[in-house]
Amino acid sequence: MVNSPAPADFAHALDLLNAGALVALPTETVYGLGADASNPDAVAKIFAAKGRPADHPLIVHLANAEAMQDWARDVPEYARQLAAAFWPGPLTLILKKQSWVLDAVTGGQDTVGLRVPAHPVALELLRCFAASRHDSPAGIAAPSANRFGRISPTTAEHVRDEFADATPFILDGGPCAVGIESTIVDCSRHQPVVLRPGHITAAQIAAVLSGEQAQSPANDMHAARKAAPRVSGSLAAHYAPATPLRIVKSQDIPEVLAVWQHAGKRCGVVAYSVDPRDASFHELVRMPATSMEYAQGLYAALRKLDAEGLDQIIVEALPDSQDWAAIADRLQRATAAHALADSSGR
Ligand code: TXA
Ligand code: MG
Repeated sequence: MVNSPAPADFAHALDLLNAGALVALPTETVYGLGADASNPDAVAKIFAAKGRPADHPLIVHLANAEAMQDWARDVPEYARQLAAAFWPGPLTLILKKQSWVLDAVTGGQDTVGLRVPAHPVALELLRCFAASRHDSPAGIAAPSANRFGRISPTTAEHVRDEFADATPFILDGGPCAVGIESTIVDCSRHQPVVLRPGHITAAQIAAVLSGEQAQSPANDMHAARKAAPRVSGSLAAHYAPATPLRIVKSQDIPEVLAVWQHAGKRCGVVAYSVDPRDASFHELVRMPATSMEYAQGLYAALRKLDAEGLDQIIVEALPDSQDWAAIADRLQRATAAHALADSSGR
């Protein structure tokens, strides 16, 4: 369901980028808040708009894999294989940066995150931007277009909800097809390491790598967090609605709802297999039972319930299999935000 903005909208977005202003753009994962990645003033506006700490690095979006060399050096062969297999697509590669790349983009690290997105609107904008830059490097730095720590937007309307009066110009490309953020693979070391799980799984990554590298993609989030503490999406608490969220096993949902009802609290439920219609709840969002469709709708579901002023969101526990792993990761972090808030007494 890709929406194609009018040519005048592309022209306006391009003018804004070249003038150092922000543009919200659709990607196949989530909407991004974009700026010219080689303009320090433009990049500073991203941090100000999101309320994001300055040491959290940004992903640079490129028009094609050839542009990788403008931004990264010492690109290992396995990273080239990943780019060839998955770009354009929902995969971000962390690579050693070229010396000129702005500290504001990399959070002062010696690596840079690069991605060629698959959304036709993002690609069109990136190609026009590259053409307008002739031979200089052209990249759009874009984190997810939400305030720091909150749920990523998967429609243009979500972006408007995040920024209200301060909403940047939005290229509306329709709802995002993937619905959760890209898989991030650290390619700055000898072995690839999955820093953030996503639609492209560790198994898919291993399948395209040859020899020794295929043994790895160490999908070890604990090691990853120690090695790369500034992957903000890997903070224990992230991607969170304002309403407390709890993951509950399917069979326990009726009982948990009864307890909340008894306490006079309003509960929202996100379920894909159980039908708790006999139990008492304020709002039910029924989700698809396949991981791809579930991921597409997850953030919209959480945003909908978050807007209801509920006391609690109950999410039915997910199947324990690889294709659900990235979704389970996001839900876990959404729960952790409130566990931390509770324990610190906020
Ligand atoms: O799907 C996506 O990745 C979306 C779309 C817009 O491309 N972008 C996104 O950006 O999710 P953001 O900023 O919300 O999350 C990017 C993650 C952050 O956790 C950041 O720390 C990490 O990428 N990252 C970026 N550059 C990095 C680097 N050089 N080293 C380690 N982590 C990096
Ligand atoms: Mg984000």
